[in-house]
Amino acid sequence: MALKVGVVGMGSIGNRHADCHAADELAELVAVCDVLEKPADDAAERLGVPAYYSLDDMLDAHPDLDVVDVTTGGNENGSWHYEPVMEALSADKHVLVEKPISNDIEEAREMVAFAAAKDLYLGCNLNHYFTEPAEKAMQAVKDGKIGEQVFCLHRMGFPGGDITYKRQNAPRSEAFPYFHVKAFLAHPFSIMRYFCGDITHIQAFMSKPSFRKASNDLMVSVNSIHVQFANGCIGYLFSQRGDATMGLGGWWSVEVGGTKGTFCIENCVEKYSYFPAPGTEGAAKPEKLGVGAAPPPEVYNTGETDFSSTFPRRIHAYLEDVTNGVPKHLLRSSGRDALATLEYTFAAIESFEEGGVLVRPASLPPIKRDPRA
Ligand SMILES: NC(=O)c1ccc[n+]([C@@H]2O[C@H](COP(=O)([O-])OP(=O)(O)OC[C@H]3O[C@@H](n4cnc5c(N)ncnc54)[C@H](O)[C@@H]3O)[C@@H](O)[C@H]2O)c1
Repeated sequence: MALKVGVVGMGSIGNRHADCHAADELAELVAVCDVLEKPADDAAERLGVPAYYSLDDMLDAHPDLDVVDVTTGGNENGSWHYEPVMEALSADKHVLVEKPISNDIEEAREMVAFAAAKDLYLGCNLNHYFTEPAEKAMQAVKDGKIGEQVFCLHRMGFPGGDITYKRQNAPRSEAFPYFHVKAFLAHPFSIMRYFCGDITHIQAFMSKPSFRKASNDLMVSVNSIHVQFANGCIGYLFSQRGDATMGLGGWWSVEVGGTKGTFCIENCVEKYSYFPAPGTEGAAKPEKLGVGAAPPPEVYNTGETDFSSTFPRRIHAYLEDVTNGVPKHLLRSSGRDALATLEYTFAAIESFEEGGVLVRPASLPPIKRDPRA
């Protein structure tokens, strides 16, 4: 039976989530909610469901809701998540929340702990790795085609330049110098962790973590982050918003190399390549290659360039996990996964503020494994 879903926060992303639920056979969109009447009413009319102006009222009117999907945003795109998430969990509803899980690390820890205590599914929309290329890459990792991981290089940036990110285009970032850092690093950190596991050490340089003074342009930030993973792999993340345009690999790319081979994902949804290490099965022998040459890669082009295809895929995965009653610790892109990305973000900010010192992100809450898994 389809899960009954209510969406809270009917901005552009809430509407997008609502569309995904409406189109997904595992969901029945039952209601929408916004503290502002117009976005709530507009979405309700468009989607043919009732509008509510408080979550309280929505929960009262629909006690049989299974899932509350929180797409509220706020300062640094995360400050309005805590209240509705905690309220929905208190009402024994499963919750899907947008990223970042919060802009406040204490609130994020509390949400994750509360969901665990209530034994509910708290998922986060870390949607960037719900793609065909990421599926192929994860399969390569599981099949041992990467071997012992050696490096993880991630480049991510919104195309920009002088014209794109004017101050007036982003008034919500005023007075929040870490706006981009907190609003966005959840994505690249989630991808790096998805493939390479927990990060134990972080060192960050941020060339412009505030507003640019000249030309009245909004300077959102440029982040150069060096990491060590628990598995011994070394990683590097370059992330920037709008001040320049990314060239190779499209708006984001990731490359993970190991003793057996290397994979690259280019342009998020578009392309997957696998480079077998010289000498591995099917690859050229090292002696047949010139110095620095690699065997030819296997390339898979999806033909897809639209990143918005990640939303229905990710939301479907959440609905599937809840429907199937997977053990809580196996929920894909969980609240705990989202907390990890926020711990790394706060560690990066601390490193930057201390002049680039090495910071160990706080430990994550222990996983309580379900013995049935
Ligand atoms: N995963 C992605 O790829 C992706 C992409 C863009 C944005 N986002 C995230 O989506 C979220 C929403 O972004 P947006 O641009 O749609 O935001 P928005 O500010 O345009 O919309 C948020 C809406 O929530 C409403 N709201 C706030 N608090 C509420 C509450 N307690 N109860 C009911 N309604 C409430 C506001 O009135 C507003 O209409 C952000 O967290 C952002 O980081 C994710």
